[in-house]
Amino acid sequence: MELHLALDHAGDLTGQIVHQIRNAIQAGRLEAGARMPPTRLLGTQLGVARKTVTTAYERLVAEGWLHARVGDGTYVAEGLARKPVRIAAAPVLPPAVQRWMAVEAPFLGPAGGARYAFQPGQADTARFPHEAWSRCVRTVLAAERQRTPGPADPCGEMPLRQAIATHIAFTRGVQGAPTDILVTAGAQQGIDLVARLLLGPGAVVAMENPGYPMARALFQGLGARVVPVPVDGEGLVVETLPGEATLVFVTPSHQSPLGMPMSLARRQALLDWAARRHAVILEDDYDSEFRYGGQALDALQTLDRHGRVVYLGTFSKTLLANLRCGYLVVPPWLMPAARKVKHLMDWYTPTLIQHALARFMSEGHLLRHIRRSHARHAQRRSRLLARLHGDLSPWLEALPAMAGFHLAARLRVPVAADALVAMARLAELELATLDPFYATPPPTCAGLLLGFGAIDLLDIDPALDRLAMVLSALAPEPAHVV
Ligand SMILES: Cc1ncc(COP(=O)(O)O)c(C=O)c1O
Repeated sequence: MELHLALDHAGDLTGQIVHQIRNAIQAGRLEAGARMPPTRLLGTQLGVARKTVTTAYERLVAEGWLHARVGDGTYVAEGLARKPVRIAAAPVLPPAVQRWMAVEAPFLGPAGGARYAFQPGQADTARFPHEAWSRCVRTVLAAERQRTPGPADPCGEMPLRQAIATHIAFTRGVQGAPTDILVTAGAQQGIDLVARLLLGPGAVVAMENPGYPMARALFQGLGARVVPVPVDGEGLVVETLPGEATLVFVTPSHQSPLGMPMSLARRQALLDWAARRHAVILEDDYDSEFRYGGQALDALQTLDRHGRVVYLGTFSKTLLANLRCGYLVVPPWLMPAARKVKHLMDWYTPTLIQHALARFMSEGHLLRHIRRSHARHAQRRSRLLARLHGDLSPWLEALPAMAGFHLAARLRVPVAADALVAMARLAELELATLDPFYATPPPTCAGLLLGFGAIDLLDIDPALDRLAMVLSALAPEPAHVV
């Protein structure tokens, strides 16, 4: 490592070297006992005569900043007091920084470490097919050596775009050519990309209330005005949409967090509304690969006849959130601009992951893994529902949901969310509440979001026994349910 000194090559060079080394010692950049570069080397680096450096070192030795060991080298002296660091007064925060500071950016998963956790949105990492994945990564890594280096397409690598188009046509009936697919670093980057594309500062974005807080926080941070739109048993109440919205963020397959699907009538009404207003709908289809009966309704993207829908998917739920891989299906009129935004955001998603995932999918591992996970999810969900409809029903009302791997349960009794979470933690149970999903925090806890993607079937009963214990301590006289 070179010692960084900047000389202006005018005036007293020895004086400049002395001054800068002294400052470096005072600021702690050169630590006590550190060996100084040899004079010949430093002279060459700085483009000055060796003698200039030798003289500077001699002066610093004489002043006590350095000491020379004969036949060894020159070292920074020990025990020199550092100049106290002056802390500049905190600057006035620029408006954009103030906005980001004001945004509530919740980490939805529980803190971790508890014996039991109903972690929402968390897939079962223990059962991820690590062997098959490692093989795909190794094969791609070997092939990568042969590839000519050069920039990749911001929209993604074609084998993965093809595999995604095939996968979503098969599992969701989503219509999209491989060229309509844009690979992102997870769904969250897809939301970011669409927001940058469509929302200037002050633009209006409408979203479900309750709705996904990571999207709300991002829109707010970018300076958009987020208008909360109520949901009912049929999903987003379309007639209450603000006329000036340029973007509507929705989760029609499995409303986040409550769980109900958006009815077909509402889907049609939303599409008509967007076509009339020239607005864009961002359809977040984050976990609908897992279904438990009933007929899946067509995606908004499938029903769209006017090119108003951008469809968003992710591998975080079907595979692993740590892959940070998701995708958008973009209408052709919007793709050139979307491609440009992705290019300017991060050039492209890492190609190694893209090729490994394409291989993993084309070898059938993804569908196989979804099938296996589905069977496990179904068992856990049944057990959870049996308890929610049974001994837990005086406190909790399970909301109907036929997809994904979480269930929302409304609290029937007024309980403070902090007390509930804290008491559960004492009982070694980590809980997530519905409260962060609301635009305005509810006065008492709205309910629980019970993720069953990562909890073992055998852990569900003991975990719910603890929940029952906590609820009966906080609300000893629960509702009478008939
Ligand atoms: C509704 C919803 N959308 C999107 C995401 C984000 O997924 P990703 O990990 O791909 O960013 C989540 C994650 O929990 C989610 O719940």
